[in-house]
Amino acid sequence: MNPELEKKLKEALADTSNIGELPDADSVGTVGNSDCGEMLRMWIKFREDKGRKVIDKATFQSFGCETAIAVAALATRIIQGKTAEEALSLKPEDLSGELGPLPPMKIHCAQLVEGALKSALNPAGASPAPAPAPAPASSASGTLVDSLQNGNRKSGTIQFIPKNK
Ligand code: FES
Repeated sequence: MNPELEKKLKEALADTSNIGELPDADSVGTVGNSDCGEMLRMWIKFREDKGRKVIDKATFQSFGCETAIAVAALATRIIQGKTAEEALSLKPEDLSGELGPLPPMKIHCAQLVEGALKSALNPAGASPAPAPAPAPASSASGTLVDSLQNGNRKSGTIQFIPKNK
């Protein structure tokens, strides 16, 4: 990995403000990558802004590599103030923000974040995995550890996306 990207990753990882469960979230989405085993959950809370429903705050938890965590930290900032439609239009390279273009072997890390965002905002859009019915935030607001311990992978709460989607 080039030194410039490594430096930007460290800076993004230092921002822990959006890490953790968002207890009063309006929606939550969880995805996993069946190839590398990384998982990411994102919580989203909306607010009204001049007649528009915009993202007030987004947080995440991850059993992920540093790149996925860094992208999630940046993405949860980038989507603040955007409508769900605006956030859904963002591509992995947009969500990577200041990191800039990722090396080919790390692109799927940003796609994991994109998948969690899609799962949270539009569960049907997190294809190609079968889309489960949207879970109310209250019933899906446990931690990733809870999900794994409760076997939610089997019940479809966690969507798995292929590495090279
Ligand atoms: Fe798989 Fe980063 S190595 S998400």
